Amino acid sequence: MSLAALALSLAFQQAPTAPPEQVAPGTQDPKEVFTKAKCVACHGEDGRGDTEKGRKLKVPDFTSAKWSEETTDKEIRETIRNGTKDKKGNVRMPGYRSKLTPGQIKALGVYVRSFARK
Ligand code: HEC
Repeated sequence: MSLAALALSLAFQQAPTAPPEQVAPGTQDPKEVFTKAKCVACHGEDGRGDTEKGRKLKVPDFTSAKWSEETTDKEIRETIRNGTKDKKGNVRMPGYRSKLTPGQIKALGVYVRSFARK
């Protein structure tokens, strides 16, 4: 290995790794954000919420026409920003205000909405 390559590999090893729930602000692809921000753990890759956590928390089915009709874009974005709590104040869905950029949240809103149109 050349000296330059060695230096480069060392630099990469020392690069700080972001905590898993923090999505790089540069990531704009909502599908990638949906996975990296762990939305999939509760909402599932297909948005149906058919995951262990999703079933337990009774998350809405994003593919349902009824859900889509009843829910406004604003509500979707507010929920992603603020998350939700139950009556006792326990977190049901975590808020992503400090973890995602406004642009990412907006793109996620459109992405979530798109499940109902497939
Ligand atoms: C720990 C599980 C969990 C994670 C992680 C999670 N959610 Fe949720 N989400 C919920 C639950 C539960 C609800 C239903 C609200 C309620 O009943 O409290 C919900 C509701 C929603 C809604 C519906 C809002 C409405 O007005 O009907 C949207 C949109 C949403 N989540 C998007 C996301 C996105 C995008 C992410 C990732 C950035 C995410 N969720 C991560 C649990 C989760």
